[in-house]
Amino acid sequence: NTGALWGGRFADGPAEAMAALSKSTHFDWALAPFDIAASQAHARVLNRAGLLTDAELLDMLNGLDRLLDDVVAGTFVAAPSDEDVHGALERGLIERVGPELGGRLRAGRSRNDQVATLFRMWLRAALRRVGADVLDLAAALVGQAAANPGVVMPGKTHLQAAQPVLLGHTLMAHAQPLLRDVARIVDADRRLAVSPYGSGALAGSSLGLDPAAIAADLGFHSAADNSIDATSSRDFAAEAAFVLAMIGVDMSRLGEDVILWSTPEFGYVTLADAWSTGSSIMPQKKNPDVAELARGKAGRLIGNLSGLLATLKAQPLAYNRDLQEDKEPVFDSVAQLELVLPAMTGMIATLTFHPERMAELAPAGYTLATDIAEWLVRQGIPFRVAHEVAGACVREAETAGVGLDELTDAQFAAIHPALTPQVREVLTVAGSIESRNALGGTASGQVQRQIDVAGATIEQL
Ligand code: ARG
Repeated sequence: NTGALWGGRFADGPAEAMAALSKSTHFDWALAPFDIAASQAHARVLNRAGLLTDAELLDMLNGLDRLLDDVVAGTFVAAPSDEDVHGALERGLIERVGPELGGRLRAGRSRNDQVATLFRMWLRAALRRVGADVLDLAAALVGQAAANPGVVMPGKTHLQAAQPVLLGHTLMAHAQPLLRDVARIVDADRRLAVSPYGSGALAGSSLGLDPAAIAADLGFHSAADNSIDATSSRDFAAEAAFVLAMIGVDMSRLGEDVILWSTPEFGYVTLADAWSTGSSIMPQKKNPDVAELARGKAGRLIGNLSGLLATLKAQPLAYNRDLQEDKEPVFDSVAQLELVLPAMTGMIATLTFHPERMAELAPAGYTLATDIAEWLVRQGIPFRVAHEVAGACVREAETAGVGLDELTDAQFAAIHPALTPQVREVLTVAGSIESRNALGGTASGQVQRQIDVAGATIEQL
């Protein structure tokens, strides 16, 4: 026997390079607290199946408690000879309760059903933390929207001047996808909450152990229906990696806007000193590094998702060792988001907006042309004609080098007889914005409704 969990049929231990390749303790140690909790649940079903006496169960639970304390304190760590966290913890248990009792725990379970269960447990806890961080960021956006009522800004499509909108509407357009990401986490948790424990290596257990009891004990909603599927599928991990990547992508879109807004060319915002960085050579620099790192991390999170999907593709049933590659990308995505989300929240919460600058730019680029066309439609002109007429107004104003509101009554009338001086009522940014009062529009009442709904959603999530 070589001392490994699987040593019985081997006369020789693994070659050095074999052991180095096989080893996963440097990352799967993150599963240790879950492994111990699941071992305690497993000990209880062994006891109920008559495979552990009540006294043995007590000793076992006690030993596992002490092992957990030592793991948390850092006094029990992986040894060079440990292949993975599961083997290391069995060694630790045996060191605490002796080989006779410690050697009984493994009955009816495999590292295959263990690792699938523990990864799900880890993910459920991690996604809950990430979800809370995402809600904080959404709350910062909602807070800025609420703190800047009536502030107008240029709305853009293709990064070109389009139509004026409220700043609050724009900020809420970044909050909404983040709230959907949190809803995705809640939804993914329904599929994460199915326990593979009791599936054994692939075929299930013959020892009268109750998978449903373990599932309930560990906070799962149910036990898996198919032991082969439960030990070999990782769509739960891919789904989590997708949600994490989507959060990164949504954050990168917000980051990109902040980067643009903070340039002198835009001049919409100033970043707080605490959430920006300087240059080692150019003394004047103040850089939006938080937003750029958010943008950069998104690429890494997408890579983690695509790498994991590539690992899963075309694996035959059931467990294959390829699956050991499932954890690091997901662990990394969580770690990156736990770094960048709080920083994004801090940066957003401390932005200083410049309402005069945004108001000055809001009508630039003839962004009220659509309002002329829609005003004409309200006077009974077909939109096709109204679009032409409004376009002619833009051409006239551009040639004269003036704004649309600076065209004279005579110029308007010459372009089209329906263009009476009353058209001027829509040639203000505020008039344009408040006219868009249908559900989801940029009028202040609609934006306030969004802020109220989002605030309530954040409260209840
Ligand atoms: N460490 C492995 C993993 O992360 C679990 C061990 C399964 N090993 C085995 N030979 N079946 O997937």
